[in-house]
Amino acid sequence: MIDKVYCADVKPEMEGKRVKLAGWVYRKREVGKKVFIVLRDSSGIVQVVFSKELNEEAYREAKKLGIESSVIIEGTVKADPRAPTGAEVQADKLQVIQNVDFFPITKDASPEFLLDVRHLHLRSPKVASIMKVKATLVQAAREWLLQDGWYEVFPPILVTGAVEGGSTLFKLKYFDRYAYLSQSAQLYLEAAIFGLEKVWSLTPSFRAEKSRTRRHLTEFWHLELEAAWMDLWDIMKVEEELVSYMVQRALELRRSEIENFRKDLTTLKNAVPPFPRISYDEAIDILQSKGVEIEWGEDMGADEERVLTEEFESPFFVYGYPKHIKAFYMKEDPEDPRKVLAADMLAPEGYGEIIGGSQREDDYDKLVQRILEEGMNPEDYQWYLDLRKYGSVPHSGFGLGLERLVAWVLKLDHVRWATLFPRTPSRLYP
Ligand code: 4AD
Repeated sequence: MIDKVYCADVKPEMEGKRVKLAGWVYRKREVGKKVFIVLRDSSGIVQVVFSKELNEEAYREAKKLGIESSVIIEGTVKADPRAPTGAEVQADKLQVIQNVDFFPITKDASPEFLLDVRHLHLRSPKVASIMKVKATLVQAAREWLLQDGWYEVFPPILVTGAVEGGSTLFKLKYFDRYAYLSQSAQLYLEAAIFGLEKVWSLTPSFRAEKSRTRRHLTEFWHLELEAAWMDLWDIMKVEEELVSYMVQRALELRRSEIENFRKDLTTLKNAVPPFPRISYDEAIDILQSKGVEIEWGEDMGADEERVLTEEFESPFFVYGYPKHIKAFYMKEDPEDPRKVLAADMLAPEGYGEIIGGSQREDDYDKLVQRILEEGMNPEDYQWYLDLRKYGSVPHSGFGLGLERLVAWVLKLDHVRWATLFPRTPSRLYP
């Protein structure tokens, strides 16, 4: 391994110090008898100067370098307020690992082209910043979950039944029968709470979702929690504490990356408990008062949620949805059987739903009835129904779409930018 200094660690205080850098040519320009290279590595960028006087051979080689050439450079640090980071490296040694004649991504590349060459696009500092923020959000979630006593579990991805409706299931051949790709780990997490009480998992979830919106992927990363002995109001508290911790920690550890994407941090700073809570009924009233055509009992789509988010400067909850627009496993509201004990968390600034959660139906007969009402076969859910026969307890849980959280935190225009290799109906490559 090369004993190198990271680009971002080259600081004015290191004036006079010799350093070795290894990375890729991000920008290049020639001025007089000097070649200015902006070198890029995982940490960021630094300016490197090759001059004819210092080392003529290195200077000649540097002149030939193309964008994204890989190089190892040695030189001396010089404080320079004009350099992008306040310091530059005056290079006297250059080892070219690979010179690149032409890099296909240029400044005016269209979003579609960038996705076609996503394997090359991933190296851009902008994409790297998104991935760093995503990693930090997950790190923060782990920190919070650990200190709050949740066990991480590893549920299956190959499954036999739907959680979130049959229409978005990916079906695949499994030897002489069929299997599906998991839409949600929820049902398996429910099984796990009987041994572990508070469990979580981070898995890919799959939805054969044909709708082309800025918030749908066919494969996304799903952070799911499930807990015994918690009702809807308990799990909502968990949701706001977890999301708040994730966002505040990202602000603490990734402030500069976040500021590259959004200047205004208000809504992120506002993400501290308690998040505002409104009922579905209130949400419908607000929408109607704003001229949106929606009746009680109708589901809210992205458009309706966008209008609703205008009312809030932080994430907020909508609870108490009508039963018939929500999934079969949600517990009926004992005070109003038209409704279920469900709550979604919506992100402000037009983003909308980032979490779907609920208290689960823990009564065997009611759950069978709900499965039948949804036109499904209780035999397909025999093991799941068993959980309501052997020590059933009140329990609740939720799922957070990681890319949707990242999209809001960084104000991205589409969730596809928040994942390494996005999968959508039209995109399976690279
Ligand atoms: O609301 P959903 O469908 O809920 C469930 O899957 C529950 N079984 C989760 C649980 O209770 N354990 O999905 C949960 C979240 C959504 O709020 C959204 O953030 C994200 O998953 N999500 C998607 N993200 C990107 N692309 C898609 N197609 C998504 N579908 C859901």
